[in-house]
Formats: sequence, structure tokens, C-alpha cells
Amino acid sequence: MKVAIMGYGTIGSGVAEVLRVNRDLIAGRVGEPIDVKYILDLREFPGDPEEGKFIKDINVIVNDPEVTLVVETMGGVHPAYEFVKANLLAGKSVTTSNKALVADMGYDLIRIAREKKVNFMFEASVGGGIPIIRTLQTCLTGDEIDEVTGIVNGTTNYMMTEMEENGSDFDDVLHDAQARGYAEKDPTADIEGFDAARKIAILTSIVAGQQVDFHDVPTEGISKITAYDIRYAKKLGRSIKLLARMVKEGDTYCCRVAPYLLPPEHPLYSVKGVFNAVFVKGNMLGDSMYYGSGAGKLPTASAVVGDLVAMAKHLGKNIYMEWKDEKLELADPNKQENRYFVRAHQGRGAIAKVFLNAEIIDMGVDNELGFVTPKMLESEFNAKKEELGEVFQVIRMA
Ligand code: HSE
Repeated sequence: MKVAIMGYGTIGSGVAEVLRVNRDLIAGRVGEPIDVKYILDLREFPGDPEEGKFIKDINVIVNDPEVTLVVETMGGVHPAYEFVKANLLAGKSVTTSNKALVADMGYDLIRIAREKKVNFMFEASVGGGIPIIRTLQTCLTGDEIDEVTGIVNGTTNYMMTEMEENGSDFDDVLHDAQARGYAEKDPTADIEGFDAARKIAILTSIVAGQQVDFHDVPTEGISKITAYDIRYAKKLGRSIKLLARMVKEGDTYCCRVAPYLLPPEHPLYSVKGVFNAVFVKGNMLGDSMYYGSGAGKLPTASAVVGDLVAMAKHLGKNIYMEWKDEKLELADPNKQENRYFVRAHQGRGAIAKVFLNAEIIDMGVDNELGFVTPKMLESEFNAKKEELGEVFQVIRMA
């Protein structure tokens, strides 16, 4: 079987490497070898092990009937969308690692794949090497999924771990993460939570069988977390992590991306560094958790190749995937209940008057007290916060 790779960056070159290194193993599992025929990239790669396969014209792939499988590792929505669509329409199955493409246009590409009796797969788009998408789409299909809570951004988890363990400052840790190649080209998507919002929108779309717009997911990143917050977290015996959450609410789902204070007994508490983990609660299964490398060349490429093998085993047959075009109305996030950690400059009396039974945490910082509220609705908390006046920080307790 012949595969074409579109985009020879970190992940694309990783896919070629996995196919080279594990060629015989993969051939055994598929029944025949999968070999790279073309690599589409505008750049030159002299001396590369795949030399001789590089092309610059997408039509070479689209018009070659020998190519039945295509990998999209270009990134960005355009022209990735147009290139993937052209290949699906030409009767080729496509796998992508591109979460922006899946979050924005996944529903459309899934429908085209179904109509053309081919497959569009995207295991690598969430959780890197962790097989969370296939798990939700196949293994857990006997369950109603009541909750998905993930650490799905390696960059921010690495940064929070470094800040906690080494007392490092936010800016230094960000530069370090970029130097190590964890952060996206534009780190805004990672640190402001947009990358995690796209990923939880994809997971919620799979669970709901319907398009979830990531713009509808209330999203806060970690850019406002300071060394002071880490000190309070330690005093509380908790760890601050950026969580992407989806909870079933009646006929729909409530989603949020935000930093949370996790207690040691929380299943995601000990997920450190660049690792990702996704906690899933099913109404029959109960609790389960999936852990592994959430980013990086070979773990992500491994997930892409897993899709290639699945698509190779289903040539001419679409594996049905429910993902309706009609946008899902998410539940009102103001109706979620939480306890909140707050840092404020008001005194004990003012805090106690507004937030009855608040637990005060005094770290001896001038003009500042921390406190934890009792459980209350998000809307109630916001009204009380307004009444209290300006505060320095709010982090939800998990
Ligand atoms: N920037 C992403 C992360 C890459 O840090 O998780 C994987 O999607």
C-alpha cells in the first residue's frame, strides 16, 4: 500500500520514521507493507532518508490511484482542509494530527469520507500518543459518557510542574518550554488555553455525536498564574493544573478550560511535566484514565500510523462515526457549582461578610489574604465577587 505524507515537519517526518523503523511489524499487522510514495512539502530536504519522494504539487497525490492512504501533518486550517477534501473526494482515506482542522472542519470531512466510503481519522489530534479518540469511538460505545476531564496540553503542564517544583517564574519557564519544542509556534494557543479548548471540543463532539464549537467553551489559560498562587497551592496541599472538562448536563454538556487546584487524591494530581492524561467516567464503566505522551514527534507519529493501519484494514469501507453538522448548544457554565480559591486585598471582616464560612489562608503577604469559598454556583460566586470588589486571583478547586 502506498501512502502520501502532506507536510514534512516534526510529525510528518516522525510518521515516515515509524513506517521505516517498524515496516515489517506493520506489514505483518496489515497483511502487506505500507510504503511512503510521496511527501508534499515546499522545502528541500537534501540527504533525508526519504530523498527522491518529495513533491510540491498536491495534484500528483490526488491523481495517483496507487496512493490509497494520505497523512496530513501540515497544520493550520487552510490549505490543509482543501488538500484533505480533494483526497477524500478522490477516494483516499486520510489521517491528520491537526486539531485546528478537526475542531473547525471535522464534521464536513467526516461526512465526505462517509459519502465516498473512505475514512477520515484524527487520533493524533488530541492527547498525542494517547489513544483516547479510538477509545471513545469504539471501546466505550456501550456507555453514556458522563465526564471527560483532561490534562491535554503538554506545554502548560510542563510549565506548571516547573513552577511548582523549581519555583521558576512564568516567563523563564515559557522560554524553556519553547526551547524544548513543546510550545506551539505561537505560544498564545497553549498558555491561553485555546489548544486545550479545541481538544475538549473535539472530545465532546465525539461523545455528543455532534459539532461543538470551541469558541463556545469558556476558556482561561495559565498566563495569570504567579509564584504567589503556587505558594498558596502548596499551603493548601494542592497542585495547579490546566484542566479541560466536559460534564454531562441533562441532554447536553457543560465544558470549561481553566486552571484548577487539584487535591492529591484527584486522579490527575500526579500527572507531571509534558505528560497528558484523560479521565473518563462512563455510566457503566465507572472511572477510567488514559495516560501518556501528549506531544512530541514519535508519540504523535505513532498515533498517526495507528490510524493508517486501521484505514488500511478497512479499504472500501467507511467506519461509521457520528458527528452531526448541527452545532450543539452547550449548557450554561454559570450553573456549575464549585468552591473557589480567591486572593484579595480586603480584610477578614469584609471577606466574611460577603462569603459566609470562607476559609481564610493568611500567608503573611502585605495587604493580601487568600480564602476558599464554600461550594456555590458560578453565577452566585460572580455576584459575590462583584460585591467584595477587586480581587487579585480566582482559581477553581477541583
Ligand atoms: N502544544 C501542544 C501541547 C502540542 O503542548 O500539548 C500537542 O497538541
